[in-house]
Amino acid sequence: MKGAKVSLNHAERVKKFLIKSRLLDFDYRATKGKQFIIFPVLEEFEDKDVEFIEDKFSKKRRKETWKDILKNKLGKVDSEKLITAHDLIGNIAILEIPEELVKKEKIIADTFLNNNKNVKTVLKKAGEHTGTFRTQKMKWIGGENTKDSVYKENGVKLKVNVEDMYFSVRLGTERKRIMKQIEVDEHVLVMFSGCAPYPCVFSKNTDAERIVGIEINPKAHEYGLINLQKNKISNVELFCGDVKKVVPELKERFDRVCMPLPKGAEDFLDDAIKISRKNAIIHFYDFLHENEFEKCEEKVRSACNRARRTFEVLDFVKCGQYSPGKFRVCLDFRVF
Ligand SMILES: C[S@@+](CC[C@H](N)C(=O)[O-])C[C@H]1O[C@@H](n2cnc3c(N)ncnc32)[C@H](O)[C@@H]1O
Repeated sequence: MKGAKVSLNHAERVKKFLIKSRLLDFDYRATKGKQFIIFPVLEEFEDKDVEFIEDKFSKKRRKETWKDILKNKLGKVDSEKLITAHDLIGNIAILEIPEELVKKEKIIADTFLNNNKNVKTVLKKAGEHTGTFRTQKMKWIGGENTKDSVYKENGVKLKVNVEDMYFSVRLGTERKRIMKQIEVDEHVLVMFSGCAPYPCVFSKNTDAERIVGIEINPKAHEYGLINLQKNKISNVELFCGDVKKVVPELKERFDRVCMPLPKGAEDFLDDAIKISRKNAIIHFYDFLHENEFEKCEEKVRSACNRARRTFEVLDFVKCGQYSPGKFRVCLDFRVF
């Protein structure tokens, strides 16, 4: 095998270069002498401090992952059907088990549990997100039989029931993106607040004066209240009800409105605009195919026209993929 021999005083620099240029052979260990080191490399390169030699290297022993172990247990045909991507919500792992592997789901769950010490429960998705509450059926397949978990994100602890309410760990980056924009003393409205991940993250990480959340699912609302207590939060008020009914009853106006309901949030744009102060920022989510992204701004334009308000687009981000070519997007706009 090819080795790059280099004196110890140049070793660090050469190693960094090898990693950056993907020339280091990670399957083998470097050999160390008193004055030099020999890195296993994939090909030669130009460096006056390096001498290329033929040498033998010992192979690194890679720790077996649950995927490797399962591949042995399931055999080649079945292991090719295995979906290894999964969600981790605290101590709960949520897997997708294809129909053909249902009979082997216990083996899959037990192997996952044995090889992931922080995971105490394994569930499988048993349906799509459906209904007004956007909930998803889950089936218990291993470990402790529970659907409750505590998830830590952006400095907050969130109690979640993964079946009774919508919660996505994948939106953590989005919560952080908005949190960073919030200015001192802002009044923020979070429509569709679920178990209150947005309100809790905003409260703990910003100097917002007041945050209001509205959620129609009573169970999610109940967990939201628990999460306020859990995180010792006092500047958030949560309402349980339909945004359409609660918003007109609020006697206040907001500097920022978040609308994290990608399917159908346009039906609530009029309410969001109505309750926004002059110069407020609205974060409007939508699910769109990449060849129809312009529809997002069109929906905002129509709503602003109806309200006789003008607007300015501040940002447009893709914040998740729904299906091939279809994305969860967010349009941030200022309303005047
Ligand atoms: C996509 S989930 C987002 C939940 C939460 N913000 C999160 O990120 O985990 C949308 C939420 O809106 C709620 N919802 C749907 N229609 C609503 C309405 N008309 N009024 C209030 N909440 C509603 C659902 O129950 C669900 O919890």
